Formats: sequence, structure tokens, C-alpha cells
Amino acid sequence: MPVDVLLGLQWGDEGKGKVVDYLAPNYDLVARFQGGPNAGHTLNIDGKKFVLHTIPSGIFNSGCQNLIGNGVVIDPVTFQKEIEGLKEVGVDAHKTLFISRKAHLILPSHRALDAASEAHKGNSKIGSTLKGIGPAYMDKTGRNGLRVGDIENKNFKDKYNQLLEKHYQLLKQYNYVHDIPSMEKDFFAGVECIKSFLLVDGEYFINDLLNKNKNILAEGAQGSMLDIDFGTYPFVTSSTTLTAGACTGLGISPNHIRNVFGITKAYCTRVGSGPFPTELNNEEGELMRKQGNEFGSTTGRPRRCGWMDMPALRYVIMLNGVTHLIITKADVLKVFDEIKVCDSYNRDGKTSEGIPYDLCNIEVQPVYDTMEGWDEGIEKIKDAKEIAGGLKKYIAYVEQKSGVKVALLSTGPGRDQLIVLDKNLSR
Ligand code: GDP
Ligand code: IMO
Ligand code: MG
Repeated sequence: MPVDVLLGLQWGDEGKGKVVDYLAPNYDLVARFQGGPNAGHTLNIDGKKFVLHTIPSGIFNSGCQNLIGNGVVIDPVTFQKEIEGLKEVGVDAHKTLFISRKAHLILPSHRALDAASEAHKGNSKIGSTLKGIGPAYMDKTGRNGLRVGDIENKNFKDKYNQLLEKHYQLLKQYNYVHDIPSMEKDFFAGVECIKSFLLVDGEYFINDLLNKNKNILAEGAQGSMLDIDFGTYPFVTSSTTLTAGACTGLGISPNHIRNVFGITKAYCTRVGSGPFPTELNNEEGELMRKQGNEFGSTTGRPRRCGWMDMPALRYVIMLNGVTHLIITKADVLKVFDEIKVCDSYNRDGKTSEGIPYDLCNIEVQPVYDTMEGWDEGIEKIKDAKEIAGGLKKYIAYVEQKSGVKVALLSTGPGRDQLIVLDKNLSR
């Protein structure tokens, strides 16, 4: 009856999709609990790359069911494209995908409002993915939103038009030029596509499975440093990306949660605006981007790159109750002779080991520990016992500084490019 939660510990793109796909055979259900098509989760299966935005990353495991939970915001257009992409490779998601009636819908006008809001912000823009996430969650908390369950009702079109009217008023205030009617054909086709799936009262669906002793993996999106409450506000997304979000985004009580798998890259990246204390605006940063192919899975934007940030990692381990650490992209650092990790910040001559409230407005200097690197031999390691040298010391350092054991180490994008350090996480 346990729920394990897997989430990103940084600013997103930590490799959640790959690791969920790897772990999925151990679970009966994989469930997305927040976010929407701002997410891009990459899976590499038999040398072929798939990027999922809304659909849980368990979809390629035939023995596993998948749920889009109530905490997710769904864009019917993106959803339909994903379903068609899966069909092309022989995956019929109708058999294993369930959608909560309480998940909210992203309308074309939400996307227009996202673009209008960002344009209005000028230099202080968030760097949103422009998928309509913020406006859709605003309508949810403003109690105006449309939910998946509404599409089953005859008056859906009336409700849609009412909300659209509100959005037109807002767009007028922004003085933003848009062409919403041209986007509506795809939207309503996407709505029909959603209707063809099994729509469920997600909270009952998931609790029934828990009562039947089924194993559930809750798949986070974005990253803990993008959380609406505890991230680098206002440069964050609009949902609760932390473990707590799995409870409200699925309808499960906290006492069902067993393990919390926290994923971090061996370095840091961020897409969009906002503070990033260890960012490298130099050749080292360029090398990380090139070596790690750090370009957004959803928008293609270059990701900002920098060294691992321990104050941020310790902060989110505390917020999430992380029980197992998973480090990805360790192979990328093989090009560096020396590896750096920031262990604290220096602020006006004073040391800070935590995340300052006003991080968005102040300059902090990272204080680095430097350690020896590792080479391409890392990609050949199959057994944790073979881990040696700089890599072994690096893992011991991270464990000691974070207080959490490393359970998995990812050494490449492929499904099986993983070293299992905690045998409980073997497939
Ligand atoms: P997600 O949003 O957390 O699922 O991560 P993304 O899919 O947006 O970005 C992670 C990128 O890194 C993808 O292109 C993955 O294929 C790739 N990746 C994941 N793990 C590894 C790894 O250990 N090494 C390398 N080189 N690439 C990885
Ligand atoms: P996955 O699940 C990386 C970032 C955007 C922007 C900020 C707000 O693939 O890790 P939004 O569209 O939510 O209004 O954008 O959050 N962002 C992500 N960055 N990975 C993601 O998802 C992200 N989802 C949102 O770049 O800075
Ligand atoms: Mg991503």
C-alpha cells in the first residue's frame, strides 16, 4: 500500500523521465501529480528518444497503469499530440492511462495570457515555457477553472465561452494581439481525444489501488527550487513541486508515503530567469552545456549551467524528506580534471549555509570545495563495487554533506545506463 515519490531537487530537467521509466516495472501505477506541458521528460528506449509532457513516464511499461492526477493542468492540444506520437510506435495509451476528472484544462486563451503577461513584464520576465501554466493555475485558485469532468457535461461549451469572455477582457488590458479562434479547432479536437480515455475520480481510483496493496510511484515535474512556495520566488512555476504536492495532487494522505527519491544532476542547470548562485558564465559553463546537451526538452532553450549547490540541495532534502538520492549525468563531468561543489555562500563576508529569503535581490559568492574528477571509464561501470577514485570520493562527499545515501547513479541517457547502489532499487 505504499506510495513512493520521485521528484527533481533542482530547477527541473534532472532526468526524472529516464529514472521513472527505469523504476516503473517495480510499480502497478505511475501517477503525475502537478505541472503540465511545461514539463518535458525524456525517455530513451532502444536508442529512440521520446519526450513526454503530460503523460506519466510509466507509459512504455505494459504492466504498469498510469494516472494523470487532479493536480495536473492538461492542454488538450499537447495531450492529443503525445497520444498520436505513442500510437506511431505501437503504444495504445487507452489501455493503461487514466485521467482524473478534477485535473484542470489549459485553454488556448491561457496560453495567450501567459505570453501577454511575460511580454508585459519585460526585463523581469519569468522565462515561462509559455504553455499557459500560470494562467491555468490562477483560474484554478481563483475558482474559475474548467476541469476534465466538465467536458462530460452538455454545458461545457457555455462554460468555455464564459471563461473565454473573462480572458478577452484581460487580454484587452494587456493590449495583447492574439488569434484565439484559430487555435480552437485543435483545442476541441483535443477535448474529444481526452473524452475517449477512461476518466476517473482519481482520489477514489488511487485509494482503491492502495487498499488492494498495489505499489504506486508519484512522478514529480519541474524541480523543488521551482516550487511556488519555497522556490526562488517569483522565478518559479505555479504548482507545489515538493512531496507535499503528491498528497494534494492525487488525493492521498501523507501517511501513505514511504520512500522519497530525490534526483539531482552531478551539477546544476536552470532554464529561464532567476537566481543561480553557482552559474558558470564562462568556458566551463559552455563545456557543461555542450557535453550534457543542455537544451530544453520542451522549448529547446539553452540551459544555464553551473556546479552542484549544496545549500540548495540540503534545503530541498529538508522540505521533501528525501530518503534516497539519485545522481544523474555523472558522465558529463568526465571532461573536467577537477570537480567543484559549492558548500556554502559568502554574503558580505559572512558564511551562509542556508537559502537566504532575498536570494533574488542579493549577490552571494559560492564557496567551493574542489575534488578530483573521473574519466570516461565511468560509462563502463556496471556494478557499484567497481566505483573507485574521484567518483567514489564525490559520492561519499555528497552523502556526508547531504545526510542522504546515493541509491542510483546515472551514467548516460539510456534506460540501463544506471549503477544501482541500493539493491532495493534494482528492477
Ligand atoms: P526531466 O525533465 O527531469 O525528465 O529531464 P529532461 O528529460 O528534461 O532532461 C534530462 C536530459 O538528460 C534528457 O535529454 C535525458 O535523456 C538526459 N539524461 C538523463 N540521464 C542522463 C545521464 O545520466 N547522462 C546523460 N549524458 N544524459 C542523461
Ligand atoms: P521538467 O518537468 C525546467 C521553468 C521555466 C521558467 C519557470 C516558469 O521537464 O523538469 P512555467 O512555464 O511553469 O510558467 O515556467 O519554470 N520550468 C522548467 N524548467 N524543467 C521543467 O520541467 C520546467 N517547467 C517549468 O523555464 O523558468
Ligand atoms: Mg525536462
